Amino acid sequence: MAKARVAVLISGRGSNLQALIDAAAQPDYPAEIALVVSNRPRAAGLDRAAKAGIQQETIDHKDFATRDDFEAALNDALKISKIDFVCLAGFMRLLTDSFASDWRGRLINIHPSLLPAFKGLHVHERMIEAGVKLAGCTVHFVSPEVDAGPIIGQAAVPVLPGDDEDKLAARILEQEHKLYPVCLRLLIEGKARLSGHTVPFADDIVPDGAFANPPIE
Ligand code: GRF
Repeated sequence: MAKARVAVLISGRGSNLQALIDAAAQPDYPAEIALVVSNRPRAAGLDRAAKAGIQQETIDHKDFATRDDFEAALNDALKISKIDFVCLAGFMRLLTDSFASDWRGRLINIHPSLLPAFKGLHVHERMIEAGVKLAGCTVHFVSPEVDAGPIIGQAAVPVLPGDDEDKLAARILEQEHKLYPVCLRLLIEGKARLSGHTVPFADDIVPDGAFANPPIE
C-alpha cells in the first residue's frame, strides 16, 4: 500500500518532528514525512528536515496581513505536496475554525499534559504548582477550540519530588517521542477513528495495564 504523505508543522526545536522522521524511516511505517513547514525562519527543526532530506518551507506568518492569508499559503503548500495528514509539533500559531474544519480527521497535535487538564501554555510550571502526581502527554485531533479536540492517545509519567519545569518537561518529552508516532500509525492504518467526540480503537489494540503513582498493588 502507498504510504500516507504527512506534513509536520513546527515553530521551534522540532524534537517531535525528529521522532516522526525516525519512525517514518522504518520500512514498515505507513507514512512518509513529505513536507516540513515552519512559521518561524531559522527554527531549529528545519535543520532536522534538511538533514533527513525532507522538503521544507518557511511560511512566516509575519509576511501575511491576516490569519486567513497565512493559512491560504499554508493550504497551497500542503496541496502542492499532496499531503494526506498534518501533524502539529510545537507549532505556535492558532489555526482558524475554517482550517481545522477543512482538515477535520486529518490534523493532529501533541500537547504536554493529560488533556483536558492543563490546556494552553506554561503547562509544566502550572502542573508543578498544582501539585499533581501524574503528568503526561496527549495526541489529539485538532478542533476549533484550542487543545480540546478528540483524544487519540495519552501517556502518563509521575511527578517526582524535586521536579522543576525542566525535569518534568524532559520526562514528558521522552513519552511524547514514543506516543506521537504510535498514534499517527493508528490513525493512518484506520485503527483509531474519529467518531463524534471520541476516538475508539480497533479491537486488537489492548492497553497494557494501568499506571499509578504511588504504585498500587
Ligand atoms: C512539545 O512539548 C509539544 O508537546 C508542545 O510543544 C513542544 C514542542 O517541542 N506542543 P518540539 O519542538 O517537538 O521539541
